Amino acid sequence: MKKKRLGRGVIVLLFTFLALTLSACGDPRLTTFSPNGTNAEESLYLIKLSAYIMFAVMAVVFVLLLYVIIRFRAKSDDTSIPKQVEGSTLLEFIWTAIPVIIIIFLAVITINMTFSMAQDHSEDPDAVKLEVIAHQYWWEFRYPELGIVTAQDLYIPKGKKIAATLRGDDVIHSFWVPNLTGKIDTNPGYNRDGTLQNVNRFTFDSKTTGIFLGKCAELCGPSHPLMEFKVIALEPADFEAWVAKMKEPVQVKGQTAVQGEKIFQQNCAACHAVDASDQAKRPGPNLANIGNRLTIAGYLPAETEADMRESLVKWIEEPNRYKPQNEQATVKTVVMPPFKDKLSKEEMNELIDFLLEQKQYDPANFKIGTEVK
Ligand code: CUA
Repeated sequence: MKKKRLGRGVIVLLFTFLALTLSACGDPRLTTFSPNGTNAEESLYLIKLSAYIMFAVMAVVFVLLLYVIIRFRAKSDDTSIPKQVEGSTLLEFIWTAIPVIIIIFLAVITINMTFSMAQDHSEDPDAVKLEVIAHQYWWEFRYPELGIVTAQDLYIPKGKKIAATLRGDDVIHSFWVPNLTGKIDTNPGYNRDGTLQNVNRFTFDSKTTGIFLGKCAELCGPSHPLMEFKVIALEPADFEAWVAKMKEPVQVKGQTAVQGEKIFQQNCAACHAVDASDQAKRPGPNLANIGNRLTIAGYLPAETEADMRESLVKWIEEPNRYKPQNEQATVKTVVMPPFKDKLSKEEMNELIDFLLEQKQYDPANFKIGTEVK
């Protein structure tokens, strides 16, 4: 008997843990509980509404249960058989009708909000158009009207609708920024005539400036949990500045960086571009502004220049170690090869000097977990 109770305790703990982790609890930049966008606000409203209804139902049931247990408990000297009741049409009607009404009420509100979140703003001239292309294991962001291609760090203006079309390049991924919006799948696939298949559309926004974490929310391979990205919401004027800066090529200054540029051209330029213009489309992630990235490869630390240097060396030398299955070209359309034995220590340093000079736009004092001012 005791053992059974213990088992139940473990199950309750496990469910509490799952509820907290699955709702992305813990990181203030990765939580559904502090919404910064319209979609996230509506989601939280639905979560709260259904939770409050559930608590109200539980309260009524438990109060009735307690009342019945106490009021009708057997007295020690009472051996009589209580009055036998077989069915009550009125009671049965009540406990069927109430749940049906609750479910219809929830359904109407949920369906309404789901359709409002799924609104397509791709024809809205005020909306920022965005193409999201998910790859194993990184994110590509294209702004067709602005002529910009970038990766991993998604810049958006605060208060504007972001009309996104989303697709996957290899397998199914899912775009999720808990503070701003719910999940939406990015599907791969082409029609026989070569046009894209299963492209998803949706619109989201950020009501505040700030940095929010995004995750891939669809199991897409061994490095799925490392498939992270950032959303950087700027004041509209700052966003305009970012757009202008991203199109300006960086003039490399340092002696070693100039050497690094040659190494980059020989080893990296077939897959990566360091300018964000539309003409710079390559199979690998765009590296414009990489000197200001918040992380390297989506999750390796880049807080200080020393961190960034270390992370870049790790990643360039052994990408397969830091993103498992990166090397399997069977499904993946883009493979980052290891450069451990291809570049000398000196060449690696020069290459990194070149990459660290790629700083088009530096939003002042931004760090994950703080607001961009
Ligand atoms: Cu991409 Cu999980």
